[in-house]
Amino acid sequence: MSEEELIALARAAALKAYAPYSRFHVGCAIESVDGDVVTGANLENACYRLGLCAEQSALAAAQHQFGLASIARIAVAGGNPSSGELTGEATCTPCGGCRQAILEAAHLAGRDIHILSANGSGTQVERHMIMDLIPRSFGPTNLADVQD
Ligand code: THU
Repeated sequence: MSEEELIALARAAALKAYAPYSRFHVGCAIESVDGDVVTGANLENACYRLGLCAEQSALAAAQHQFGLASIARIAVAGGNPSSGELTGEATCTPCGGCRQAILEAAHLAGRDIHILSANGSGTQVERHMIMDLIPRSFGPTNLADVQD
């Protein structure tokens, strides 16, 4: 799948967000090494701190569809859905918690994961690798002292 197609899926997924509190809609599309794709969107709650990010939602779908170890590339887009399609200028890079969650999949896979961060309108894209987005991170090896 092309970058444009994966970003288009993330932008479309954002329209399904449940975000009545922030009104900021985020969509995420995750592609596997075999080219399968799952999507997710943010899911907010009246108890604000219980809200779920789009990336976490899509990661759960990926876990069930093809497994976290098969994740190759992730597109994220965030913005304003009010005109019937996602719009907005600022690129949406994954929050710190989502970086940590994506990093877990990279450790499981034994390789880095590509991140495409798009603005709402899909006209701007930043390209990163998850290991660059969360340097000096906490990961499975930090738990070595309590493992058998
Ligand atoms: N959000 C995401 O879904 N992903 C991110 O990486 C950044 C933030 C959501 C959480 C909340 O529902 C809204 O965007 C505003 O922060």
